[in-house]
Amino acid sequence: MASFKELVFSGVQPTGNLHLGNYLGAITKFVALQNSHDCIYCVVDLHAITVPQDPAALTANIREVTAAFIACGIDPKNHIIFNQSQVPEHAELAWVFNCTARLGWLNRMTQFKEKAGKDRENASVGLYAYPALMAADILVYRATHVPVGEDQKQHLELARDIAQKFNNDFSTSIESNGFGDGFFPLPEPLIQGPATRVMSLRDGTKKMSKSDPSDYSRINLTDDADAIAQKVRKAKTDPEPLPSEEKGLEPRPEADNLVGIYAALSDVSKADVLAEFGGAQFSTFKSALVDLSVAKLGPIGAEMKRLVADPAYIDSVLADGSERAGVLARKNMNAVKDILGFIRR
Ligand code: TYM
Repeated sequence: MASFKELVFSGVQPTGNLHLGNYLGAITKFVALQNSHDCIYCVVDLHAITVPQDPAALTANIREVTAAFIACGIDPKNHIIFNQSQVPEHAELAWVFNCTARLGWLNRMTQFKEKAGKDRENASVGLYAYPALMAADILVYRATHVPVGEDQKQHLELARDIAQKFNNDFSTSIESNGFGDGFFPLPEPLIQGPATRVMSLRDGTKKMSKSDPSDYSRINLTDDADAIAQKVRKAKTDPEPLPSEEKGLEPRPEADNLVGIYAALSDVSKADVLAEFGGAQFSTFKSALVDLSVAKLGPIGAEMKRLVADPAYIDSVLADGSERAGVLARKNMNAVKDILGFIRR
């Protein structure tokens, strides 16, 4: 396999209710990777329309995710922040990948099964083909590293399968076009730390999610201090004090989740948190968690509010990022066309 320049790509859907899971599972990783890598972070609006969206709300949500990226510390000048629909090569490469991916591969995707639910016949074709678009997002930049939460692992595996099959199917053409023995890298998922799967505050066996009807199930990045405090205090727990060892968390999903959140927010391990709070009652631990959450998330929410109030600035960030992303995507898409044997201007 040819060697590729390391490049980070990831995306977040603009579907509202950006929450602590998105922040700890993904966005904090995006921020950290800026120090070591070139990074491209995308507001994936084409993915959002795989389920119905209200156009005015979608516009607002695209700006809100952009504001969250900036408020959390992503630098739109040294890296790239943009929205997917402004770079048409994502959709173009997705079509090519629709012809690379096999039905059998897509049939295995658990997220489609969950999202389509019982009424599968009525799900959009886009929802089904979604993982091919996700592979295109990453591979149109030939990105090598993809920070995501645990729930995206299966999609990343599919992206690797697609890259591998494309490289195999067109190996002769790839070589004769001067790309050595592989055009696409096999992108590596980066899924690390104590909060790769943040769970609902109401049910420790369910993922924290944007679409949970109960707002008490999640902490939104735009929640104020009072809302954060209320949600943490009401979070489901059990009657036992916290254990001193991680093993003691295993049969206790709600305790495990809150300890994981605390660990991730303070950038330590769960073992460190238990060394401090082992034996403590939840009332004590929750007070500390409220203080920590408000200290970490309060300034982010305030900055998001400030940014969202200036849509012209947000839109200019997206325009600039899309311009720069577009240059990279076009170059790779042209190469894909040459490899496929298309005639182009
Ligand atoms: P999305 O918008 O659902 O979520 C954005 C990121 O947040 C992570 N995440 C979580 N992490 C921990 N705990 C949770 N409860 C939790 N909920 C969400 C997700 O894993 C994700 O990293 N398909 C993607 C968006 C996408 C993408 C891409 C990602 C489109 N193209 C290319 C990477 C590369 C999605 O729907 O993420």
